Amino acid sequence: MMTSTRVYVAGHRGMVGSAIVRYLKAMGCAEDQIITRTHAELDLTNQSDVRAFFDKERPDQVYLAAAKVGGIHANNSYPAEFIYNNLMIEANIIDAAFRANTKKLLFLGSSCIYPKLAAQPMGEDALLTGILEATNEPYAIAKIAGIKLCESYNRQYGEMHGIDYRSVMPTNLYGPGDNYSLENSHVIPALIRRFHTAKVNNAPVVVIWGTGTPMREFLYVDDMAAASVHVMNLDQQIYRKNTHPMLSHINVGYGSDVSIKELAESVATTVGFAGDIDFDTSKPDGAPRKLIDSHRLNAMGWTPKVTLEQGLKRTYEDFLNNSELRV
Ligand SMILES: NC(=O)c1ccc[n+]([C@@H]2O[C@H](COP(=O)([O-])OP(=O)(O)OC[C@H]3O[C@@H](n4cnc5c(N)ncnc54)[C@H](OP(=O)(O)O)[C@@H]3O)[C@@H](O)[C@H]2O)c1
Repeated sequence: MMTSTRVYVAGHRGMVGSAIVRYLKAMGCAEDQIITRTHAELDLTNQSDVRAFFDKERPDQVYLAAAKVGGIHANNSYPAEFIYNNLMIEANIIDAAFRANTKKLLFLGSSCIYPKLAAQPMGEDALLTGILEATNEPYAIAKIAGIKLCESYNRQYGEMHGIDYRSVMPTNLYGPGDNYSLENSHVIPALIRRFHTAKVNNAPVVVIWGTGTPMREFLYVDDMAAASVHVMNLDQQIYRKNTHPMLSHINVGYGSDVSIKELAESVATTVGFAGDIDFDTSKPDGAPRKLIDSHRLNAMGWTPKVTLEQGLKRTYEDFLNNSELRV
């Protein structure tokens, strides 16, 4: 990336957006090359405000990491907000970027775009081949629309205007800045909080929902940031050789998965919880396996660096350093 390149990171206060900012700075990007706005400063669902912002700032590159994000409970309770806000954020940013002559944009989606019963591991070509998981269908539809917005702008305007808008679909992410709320957190922050609470209270046992047998994949968020910057700056010929105009998104995964039981044991070790782990088998398990196929990205020269053990250690340190998260 050139020293004159100006980069807008949408959602810079979120877990992924903040990791992208950290990574860009670590790569030598100067403070004044990175453009940010908080939600309070710029509501990305407001089309005229987003257009005015792009008109003023005219960034060269955009990382679209702003989204309304949440777990099953939030997706079930607020489906209208999940589909409306995400469609508006994506449509406003992608169209405003095009109008402001921004040549490069990276849209962050999610592996929930794939059908509920997709063959494992899930390759990019599983998109739109089956029915989505009902609980987060509105969110997933918005994310699929984001991919199709990028592809459609490339197909209609790519040659004439030199734009190149790309999409990445991360697996489950974890790391500094995660959400530790009791009712709305993902599995790793929830386990960290529960094992930490059990440790400080000297509880003899932690009970985990389900059988512990489902397999899940986890990627450390700093690896996700590195993958995002890699895909954004990939040579166009390499990118085109590995994608298709109407199947252009790229999976970003760790490449292997662990059982929930193995994950719980790793978190317990990281946190220093010495009690027992029990499984409440009367509670639902969810899908038996959710692993994405990241060969497309690997073939384009990127692989993850941070192991689950290293990532959990760094995440727990961040949790301990943020006193408001602790019990
Ligand atoms: N976390 C994961 O495990 C995971 C996995 C796969 C994909 N992803 C994708 O990665 C992206 C980022 O996720 P994340 O985990 O970093 O989420 P996050 O921590 O919730 O961050 C999202 C950011 O977007 C901002 N935002 C939301 N609505 C906005 C609006 N209307 N105007 C301006 N800003 C707005 C939020 O600000 P406020 O908080 O102030 O609203 C927040 O800073 C999302 O697209 C998500 O789908 C995440």
